[in-house]
Amino acid sequence: MCGIISYIGNSDALQVLLKGLKCLEYRGYDSAGIAIGDKTHPFQVIKAVGRVENLSQKVAQIKPAGNLGLGHTRWATHGGVTEVNAHPQVSYNGKIILVHNGVIENSATLKSLLEGKGITSKSDTDTEVLANLIAFHYESLSALPQEQRFSESVRVSLLEIQGTYGLAIICTDCPEELIGARKSSPLILGVQKDGFFLASDVSAFAGHTKEVVFLSDNEMVHIHGNHYQVQDLNNGVLTPVVQTIDWDVNFADLGSYKHYMQKEIFEQDIALKNTLLGRFSKDGSSAHLGGLQMSPHELRQVDRILLLGCGTASYACRVGEYLIERYARIPVEVECASEFRYRNAPLDKNTLVFVVSQSGETLDTLGALHEARRKGFRSLAITNVVGSTVARESDGGVYQRSGPEIGVASTKAFTGQICTLAMLALYLGRMRDMSFSEGCDFVQALQALPELVHEVLEKCDEPMRQIAHKYANYQHCFFLGRQILYPIAQEGALKLKEISYVHAEAYPTGELKHGPIALIDETMPTVILASDPSMLQKNISSMMEVKARKGKVIAIGVEGAEIPKKAYDDAIFLPKVHDAILPIITALPLQLFAYYVALERKCDVDKPRNLAKSVTVE
Ligand code: AGP
Repeated sequence: MCGIISYIGNSDALQVLLKGLKCLEYRGYDSAGIAIGDKTHPFQVIKAVGRVENLSQKVAQIKPAGNLGLGHTRWATHGGVTEVNAHPQVSYNGKIILVHNGVIENSATLKSLLEGKGITSKSDTDTEVLANLIAFHYESLSALPQEQRFSESVRVSLLEIQGTYGLAIICTDCPEELIGARKSSPLILGVQKDGFFLASDVSAFAGHTKEVVFLSDNEMVHIHGNHYQVQDLNNGVLTPVVQTIDWDVNFADLGSYKHYMQKEIFEQDIALKNTLLGRFSKDGSSAHLGGLQMSPHELRQVDRILLLGCGTASYACRVGEYLIERYARIPVEVECASEFRYRNAPLDKNTLVFVVSQSGETLDTLGALHEARRKGFRSLAITNVVGSTVARESDGGVYQRSGPEIGVASTKAFTGQICTLAMLALYLGRMRDMSFSEGCDFVQALQALPELVHEVLEKCDEPMRQIAHKYANYQHCFFLGRQILYPIAQEGALKLKEISYVHAEAYPTGELKHGPIALIDETMPTVILASDPSMLQKNISSMMEVKARKGKVIAIGVEGAEIPKKAYDDAIFLPKVHDAILPIITALPLQLFAYYVALERKCDVDKPRNLAKSVTVE
């Protein structure tokens, strides 16, 4: 949830840190801080509550200098949003300075142990306890040669802590050294000819180097001058694998858009084109998903599929359930990864597990992946971030290739996940009962999808802006959808909640009369997803039921399937499309609705309150 960037090298660290923090702000944005110094410049720690911009203004006054630095943008876990609780945290004797992403679960015990030795904390954070613990060990290890003392004090401290961490640590006695460590929170080493970076996400050092080492859990990296060594916590030296990553340095450019969310909504056509690229069989009747690392014979043995994800990804999984069951006739179960990891659910032996995660770093999803693998189930991943922990720790999978998603509210990653699951349904379906011609129709529908998405967004943008203007001041909103459109209704409600703070709930349309209808009156607008022509009459009845109770109806209909005017207050009509792509097309106006309501309510669209882009704590 928090973002870390740190640098050691021949350049001035300040610009690297500030630029990196800007890129990482999506991971947490309640406060930010830096520490900077080197052999000739004493270390300075500067922190500010609020956005990185506030920190930049403060830094501009102080003008700190040095070739070694740490930067952090915070999403508070322990302790309120204050400057004292912001990172970097400094140890009681001023020697250890560190930034941390994660939670030290036994910090209370460690804190009282340290207090017993007269070492007290100034902040409410678990991180300061760790800084104090390292400083305490550093003092006790004074007999060690100086070149080992800092790294050894970090190593022994890490053996004592429980919880999760991505860490970058400096010791003011060792201005040519930087140490990083990770456990269940991402940390990536960037390697340059004359410098090194440690960051939670490669975007933080984009433009500086493409050579990276993805650290694994319980690994430490010790950078000393021009050298670095990766080791485990038992002092075993490891051989790092340096990978070259490919990125587009312009991804963070807003272009003519006002917000990343808006940009990401409107670039869904390109994102989906990339998701689909090169993934169809030569005969045009199936998909080609080599990353699954499973032969057709092995895939034929699968009796059941389990899809796991959190938040938006869990709704993509629910869409996947309908698609796979309908087109491949394989029973599918979906569970929130945050539930699955602790539930100990009995699973059939021929179950294939998929975890779905945009970031590939969601702790609950990783926990579910570990649990499924521990039980011996083949566990694959659908993720957007190349080299992410989910990607590295699964048995194979499919990259959704949606491109970096910066807006906290997921949009293009959601449709990319559905598109990937649709290809999976097609691939598995063609191994079973789906005929050649059905396969060809499915492929053609997917191929037409990017263009269609472009057209629908163009067509819906202004009408949805007007509808949002009309409903922006309502305090509640219902979203109703049937079958495969029910998870789309859930995602529509989540989007509205996340970025406009309007209370929104989603129900299967047929459930309305079983209770929630009691809430309908003139203050309750209801978005009814009626874009599935086969359910038209049922949906019209539900609209009439809402209207009869003075509720407002916003209908998402389909061209050619007429809805009587008296059944709705506002409506948008989507083109009639193949069933497999209906959920994606229907999600688009809901994304626009949430976006424009948030704008009307003057909310911070890209950085909604209390949220962070990647949820790496429990
Ligand atoms: C989406 O708008 C949310 N911010 C959130 O629900 C998100 O989808 C969820 O935390 C899972 O993230 P992931 O896909 O990166 O694992």
